[in-house]
Amino acid sequence: MRQFVVIGHDVPTDPDAISLSDIPGAGRLDLLCRCVAGGVFLSHGIREDVRVHLVVADEFTVTFDADSLRHLHPDERNVAARIRDALDARDDAIGHMPADVSPGVELRRMGLEATLNRLLDGGAGTATDPTLVQLHEDGDPLVEAAPPTDPVFVLSDHNDFAPAERDLLADRVDRRVRVGPKRLHADHTISVVHNWLDTDGYESY
Ligand SMILES: C[S@@+](CC[C@H](N)C(=O)[O-])C[C@H]1O[C@@H](n2cnc3c(N)ncnc32)[C@H](O)[C@@H]1O
Repeated sequence: MRQFVVIGHDVPTDPDAISLSDIPGAGRLDLLCRCVAGGVFLSHGIREDVRVHLVVADEFTVTFDADSLRHLHPDERNVAARIRDALDARDDAIGHMPADVSPGVELRRMGLEATLNRLLDGGAGTATDPTLVQLHEDGDPLVEAAPPTDPVFVLSDHNDFAPAERDLLADRVDRRVRVGPKRLHADHTISVVHNWLDTDGYESY
């Protein structure tokens, strides 16, 4: 299982504040939509064993599970509509029980720390031996280590990681890596990571 946790700092938690006519205006939701699409889709297909978790304003987490997604299309408008639906269901997320939004999409009332706890300390029902990897422009080169079996990658959006996130991740991450010498958009970083894993660390094509 590959998992990507993307921190959306500026996305509104109120679905009424999200206009499908101005997706970037909703805290750069366009970028998060591309992270979802880049995480779960192939050209004319969908990946297996991938989940993308969008942390919204450190309050909610919307999870896309590639194995059970139905009727999702890769365009930003379609993905944004699903995220807005998820936030619209936020009153159904009680405690840490998820709100079921549509097949393969769930919303939990969890910020970054609770989401990482869920993914790393059990309860997510997936990763058997998860490795938490922070994707950061100043990390160690990706190629210096073998790809982990059950990686959980954490990325920030168009902002840098906030100080509290930096502290939390410093305590929790197993590795902090960079995918190359240039600062990339988060969705492009996900594509590079997929390619690294798809090729077993650039060993098999
Ligand atoms: C556009 S960057 C964030 C903005 C940048 N930190 C800033 O404040 O100028 C989006 C995210 O993609 C990931 N990222 C971008 N370039 C990367 C690289 N070369 N290696 C690893 N991760 C990268 C990081 O998680 C980063 O926080």
